[in-house]
Amino acid sequence: MNKTATLEEIEADASPASSWGASVSEPCMVVLFGASGDLAKRKVIPAMYDLAINNSLGPRYAIVGFARTAMSDDIFRGTAGEAAKSISEVGPIDPKKWSEFASNLYYQAGEYGSAEDFQKLAKRLDELSAEKKLGGNRLFYLSTPPEVYRHIVEQLGRAGLAKASSPDAWVRIIIEKPFGRDLASAKELNKTVLGVFDERQVYRIDHYLGKDTVQNLLVLRFSNGIFEPLWNRNYVDHVQITAAETLGVERRGGFYETAGALRDMIQSHVLQLTSLVAVEPPARFDATAVRNEKLKILQSIRPFDLGMVAQSVVRGQYVAGAIDGKPVPGYRQEPGVNPHSRTETFVAMELQIDNWRWAGVPFYLRTGKRLAKRSTEIVIQFKRAPHIVFREREVEDNRLVLNIQPDEGISVSFGAKRPGTEMGIGHVAMNFSYREAFGDGKTRSAYATLLGDCVRGDATLFDRGDSVEAAWALVEPILDVWSAAKTATVPQYAAGSWGPRESDLLLERGGRRWCNP
Ligand code: BG6
Repeated sequence: MNKTATLEEIEADASPASSWGASVSEPCMVVLFGASGDLAKRKVIPAMYDLAINNSLGPRYAIVGFARTAMSDDIFRGTAGEAAKSISEVGPIDPKKWSEFASNLYYQAGEYGSAEDFQKLAKRLDELSAEKKLGGNRLFYLSTPPEVYRHIVEQLGRAGLAKASSPDAWVRIIIEKPFGRDLASAKELNKTVLGVFDERQVYRIDHYLGKDTVQNLLVLRFSNGIFEPLWNRNYVDHVQITAAETLGVERRGGFYETAGALRDMIQSHVLQLTSLVAVEPPARFDATAVRNEKLKILQSIRPFDLGMVAQSVVRGQYVAGAIDGKPVPGYRQEPGVNPHSRTETFVAMELQIDNWRWAGVPFYLRTGKRLAKRSTEIVIQFKRAPHIVFREREVEDNRLVLNIQPDEGISVSFGAKRPGTEMGIGHVAMNFSYREAFGDGKTRSAYATLLGDCVRGDATLFDRGDSVEAAWALVEPILDVWSAAKTATVPQYAAGSWGPRESDLLLERGGRRWCNP
């Protein structure tokens, strides 16, 4: 039986408003599945280091890596250290603090489907808990290939590790994206997970929600009186959301072949951004209220039918080109990629949100690999003034641009009179830069923010089972149309460009154009 929490239970459990990185006073044990993998080494372990040295992992803690590769605790500490030092996301690693942190790292080799190995794991956790006086708080982090999520969850259940050992202890599980590869598999995974854990224990991670500037979207909208009155169909002409990367598929060609841009970016990160731009003001800033409102947005997006997919969704695949002046190969020449691959590395689409706030306001989304510039940006394009008194003069469009990365900030553009006797209008912008306003010293990686929230029991910035399914339900008809159209051409674009021509046409037919960063 699924143990989905009732609304009352969720309400009762609603965490206090997120405090975004406060110190934590209870000890805890973290088990990191997939500990020898790339994501664990590059993102998760450095984020844990960041939390530990900032007292956000508890006064006492242990991190037990679990993976198939046989390795001693010391080798695990060494490889984790090497990886952490080579990435800069959490700032420079202090050798003294690292060695203190590393003394809390342990490693246990095992098979993800082996009941015996999970018994061994349970025994090791009990021993470590007793030795380090950690109590019963436990966090399981699934950073493995998604195919083994099911096995891990089932084995955790069988080994009795999914239940808290006392009423005041907690057990939580963080599950990485992709959560399923279509609606059916996402439902299946939810069923497995909720057969073992309670929804309140489950933290489905989407690292975009941990980015400061993404959270700032809520602050911008709901803590200022000046933007929200304009944030609707009366004043907004359309919204553009771009998540552009200059990187190709790097060493992930094999994985990417089974994913593509729609699954990899749109179903998760880009729809998260969409729901935050469009969401109604939540009653409170807590997990239940915020996630209820976000779900309503996903449910209000007009479902795609065959005709809409053909008209409103564009895919593309990069061919050889140049990034920053350097030649790069096409997608089909990347390692691990089928030379006849039809996997999309670019998607642009138009969405309609059928609710009172957004009726008739198109949302244009696009994402792609090997585009001209790395930039994640949201553009709120306002309607023109209803009556332009400056006849025959070009009047600038008013737009609010939220730069999520790499140069975090917000800018408002408008027309201003040029100095001089002529009535000339110039295009100007008021810019707010995160770095200039707050310096770079205080930034925390998205992973550290989210891990810290999970340790404190704040699920606001994590995905709920119903939302993940709603996002898959939305993209599913597109996946179906594409997989049925086996001979249709996938438009190509040169690496280093802004995607295929069809992407421009999508906006041009409505008299609009992409606002390229
Ligand atoms: C991941 C995708 O979820 O997000 C990658 O799987 C993508 O393909 C990455 O490159 C982008 O994240 P960021 O934080 O670099 O924008």
